[in-house]
Amino acid sequence: MRFTGKTCVVTGGGSGIGRATCVRMAAEGGRVVVADLHQDAAQATADQITSADGQAIAAELDVGNSAQVQATIAKALATYGSLDVIVNDAAMMTFQPIVDLAEADFLHVIATNLGSVFYFSKYGAPHMPPGSAIVNISSVHAHETTANVVPYAASKGAIEAFTRGFSIEMESRKIRVNCVAPGAVDTPMLWNNPNVKSGAEKVEGAIGKPEDLAAAICFIASEDASFINGTTLVVDGGRLDIL
Ligand SMILES: NC(=O)c1ccc[n+]([C@@H]2O[C@H](COP(=O)([O-])OP(=O)(O)OC[C@H]3O[C@@H](n4cnc5c(N)ncnc54)[C@H](O)[C@@H]3O)[C@@H](O)[C@H]2O)c1
Repeated sequence: MRFTGKTCVVTGGGSGIGRATCVRMAAEGGRVVVADLHQDAAQATADQITSADGQAIAAELDVGNSAQVQATIAKALATYGSLDVIVNDAAMMTFQPIVDLAEADFLHVIATNLGSVFYFSKYGAPHMPPGSAIVNISSVHAHETTANVVPYAASKGAIEAFTRGFSIEMESRKIRVNCVAPGAVDTPMLWNNPNVKSGAEKVEGAIGKPEDLAAAICFIASEDASFINGTTLVVDGGRLDIL
């Protein structure tokens, strides 16, 4: 029960890896704020948790919107009285070459994927006690990528650099900041990716379950990882090692 007495905000908690993380954190005693763009999806995760006698509330937000991030943090504090874990999981992709991509679409990806990490760090960390943890969800695309997903890959690379730097700033506060970088995981995001559908991005052989990622995210967020800080844990079933 590694999260007993801890309040955990998980963005993207309405689906896939975020949902599995919410369920696992609640099963380990956490009070979970399921934060998602889609209220119905967030509520479904919260209902799944409370029907199993866990503690959870849903929070609707766009993680790329500073005011909505601040409102979500305020809701967590008002409901549960503390903020101990933040998992920045929500993200989006575009599927166009850079020369064809609208400026607004590029900036939307950066605001959603990277801006969200900035907002939750800037406005969340001041409320977090020593022993707290922030886990940012990166991707193997920060390390190796394909054509037509450059804004996504760039945002994920930036998240890893942000994490390293912010972990240094948080060292004196005893707040750990790390990344988990998933490989291919069986979620809507994977199967909606046209590069995966066309075979341009090969995923056969190493497809994880959302629960595999939740296990890694919960480990990094817990006291079990108390000596792990500023790092990226790649959780890809060995995919990046294959030639
Ligand atoms: N599935 C994979 O193969 C894979 C691989 C590498 C990295 N990842 C990363 O894992 C994380 C979770 O992805 P997933 O596969 O579980 O995706 P998913 O599509 O199953 O879930 C993503 C969730 O994020 C929410 N979301 C999207 N934009 C949002 C916004 N602006 N504000 C609030 N919520 C928003 C969606 O509503 C959805 O519930 C993402 O950061 C993704 O980049 C996934």
